[in-house]
Amino acid sequence: MNNDIKKADWSPESWRKLPISQLPDYPDNDDLEKAYRELRKYPPLVTSWEIDSLKKKLASASRGEMFLLQGGDCAETFEHCNDGHIVKLLKVLLQMSFIMIHEMNIGVVRVGRIAGQYAKPRSNSHERIGDLEYPIYRGDIVNAFDVDAKLRVPSPQRLVEAYHKSGLTLNFIRALTENGGFADLHHPEYWELDFMRKNKYYEEYANLVNSITNAVRFMEGILPTELVSVRQVEMFTSHEALNLYYDSAQTRQSPHKTGWYNMSTHMPWIGNRTRDPKEAHVEYFRGINNPIGVKVGPPYDVDEIADLVKVLNPSNEEGKITLITRFGSSKVEEGLPALIDKIEGRGLKVLWSADPMHGNTFATDEGIKTRAFDDILSEIKKSFAIHKDAGTILGGVHLEMTGEDVTECVGGANGLKANGLSSNYQSYCDPRLNYEQSLELAFLISREWKQHARK
Ligand code: PEP
Ligand code: CO
Repeated sequence: MNNDIKKADWSPESWRKLPISQLPDYPDNDDLEKAYRELRKYPPLVTSWEIDSLKKKLASASRGEMFLLQGGDCAETFEHCNDGHIVKLLKVLLQMSFIMIHEMNIGVVRVGRIAGQYAKPRSNSHERIGDLEYPIYRGDIVNAFDVDAKLRVPSPQRLVEAYHKSGLTLNFIRALTENGGFADLHHPEYWELDFMRKNKYYEEYANLVNSITNAVRFMEGILPTELVSVRQVEMFTSHEALNLYYDSAQTRQSPHKTGWYNMSTHMPWIGNRTRDPKEAHVEYFRGINNPIGVKVGPPYDVDEIADLVKVLNPSNEEGKITLITRFGSSKVEEGLPALIDKIEGRGLKVLWSADPMHGNTFATDEGIKTRAFDDILSEIKKSFAIHKDAGTILGGVHLEMTGEDVTECVGGANGLKANGLSSNYQSYCDPRLNYEQSLELAFLISREWKQHARK
């Protein structure tokens, strides 16, 4: 266990001394170091005060005063760096958050899996396609998805490209969420109601939009304009900090502050496969000031998870750790209560969030990877109930979703069937909820929250 290594021994590069999982097999180390040095020269993508502000909001969510909505693509790609894709994801996240704010009556912290979610953990290093073996696709930050032996070779230059694409994406998000943009609550016409017309939630959604606009007008009528901040909405970014060359190159100190910040994103998270306390990822994460997500699902040991939380957050700071549980609907009742017991029993402060996606993946008879809307909803419902029983709070959800009209998850109000999956299946990795399924889930999550979490 590396908690006997003192913080003084930590540096953005101290992880390099430890064994590491999921590291791509880069053919040329000099090229890799060159790309790393280049990345170190570039300006940060986010700021320390944004990171600190997110941590405070996550602390509020851990107390049940706000709710964390984290979501986006499983694997963001370089091609996703275009206006259509970014606008659509932002729009669906905003619309979901408006539904939740309205229904739950508390603030929602929006965190996209975006602007850097380019690295994927994989079970195998190679895959067989036809008669040939290829290096596995590890996300656009490492190699190309194309079935081409050359393009599948990990290329360090992609680390630099990931930085540029993240910067462009973030720049557009910032522009869109500024005053008067489409996130402006004065313009419900931007919220695209048309696609909902055929959906059973249409009336509920239309009423909600009306009541939000009335509330905005009312507030403006009684308060001076400078006090009304409804024109601007906040949006944070997150990604799995898997390729540590990328994240450590952007790990910087901030003037007048102590400690180090990963300034490539607001909220990096540790994946379920790289949370071994003896290995490099945990070593990297224990030294940064950012709020950290930790994925927890089988296989795991409750004591190990509690030790890990302690290593990552020795001062037990509120808002620092978000435990994102991902058991699967059929296993959550078996796994979650003991984990809650251990974490709470040791007095460790965490924000509990549920990822109802990764434990509910299965392949159809045709071999298409999918998830059922009902399993996703069921894991969320069970998680709310388990937390209520334990006296803890489920303060957030972590979803794989898109603003596009894809056909990757079965079920939902429109009843997508397995035989309809191939009509618009686009994901390079895991299946995502589409626009309509995401909005529907926002209503249903709000409903559960009202039943279970309200004090
Ligand atoms: C993911 O979030 O895409 C992922 C790989 O999750 P996990 O680490 O929980 O398997
Ligand atoms: Co995934």
